[in-house]
Amino acid sequence: MKAIVVYESHWGNTEAIAQAVAAGFGPGAEALTTDEASSAALVDVDLLVAGAPLIAFSLPSDKTRTAIAAGSGEAPTPPDLSHQSLSSWLESLPRGQGRSASFETRMRWSPGGATGAIDRGLERAGYRPVGKGRRFVVMGKYGPLRDGEIELAHRWGAELAVIVKSERSVQATR
Ligand SMILES: Cc1cc2nc3c(=O)[nH]c(=O)nc-3n(C[C@H](O)[C@H](O)[C@H](O)COP(=O)(O)O)c2cc1C
Repeated sequence: MKAIVVYESHWGNTEAIAQAVAAGFGPGAEALTTDEASSAALVDVDLLVAGAPLIAFSLPSDKTRTAIAAGSGEAPTPPDLSHQSLSSWLESLPRGQGRSASFETRMRWSPGGATGAIDRGLERAGYRPVGKGRRFVVMGKYGPLRDGEIELAHRWGAELAVIVKSERSVQATR
C-alpha cells in the first residue's frame, strides 16, 4: 500500500499535520513537499492526500503568495515559499487511479475553504475522494495548532489506511 501526503506549508502547521497523517497511515506512507511529489514519486499511489493552509479565504494562489512574500512584518519567522504552490502542483498533476483525500489548516471561525479546490484538482486528474475534506485548526494567524490536532490527524491517517486497505482486499477477491 502506497500513500503520499503532499503539502504546501509556509509556517510549518500544515507540514506537521501532513507528517502526522502519514505516520497514522503507517508503513508505505510519506509526507512530501510539492516539489518532492514529482510524477515519479506518484507512480502506483493507492492514496494521494493533499493539504494546504487557508489564506485569504481560499487555497493560496500565486497572487496571495506574492502578498505573503511582501509580508506585513508581523510574522514570527519568514514564510517558506521555496516550493511551488499546491494550486500549481494540482494543475500539472499527472493522471492517476488511486483514491484521494484533502485537508486544510485554518482558524476556527473563518469563511471560505481550500479543500473544495484541492478535491476538484485531484478529481480532474482521475483520483476519487474517500470522503469530505478535513479541517485542522490553528490558534492564531501563524499558529500554533490547537491542542489535539496532531492526534486527530494521526487518527485520520489510520482511518484512511483502513478504508483504502479494505477496498483493496475487496478488489483482490473479485
Ligand atoms: C496572510 C494570512 C492570511 C490568512 N488567511 C486566513 C483565512 O482567510 N482564514 C483562516 O482561517 N486562516 C487564515 N490564515 C491562517 C492560516 O491558515 C494558518 O496559520 C495556517 O495554519 C498556516 O499554515 P502553514 O503554517 O502550514 O503555512 C491566514 C494566515 C496568514 C499569514
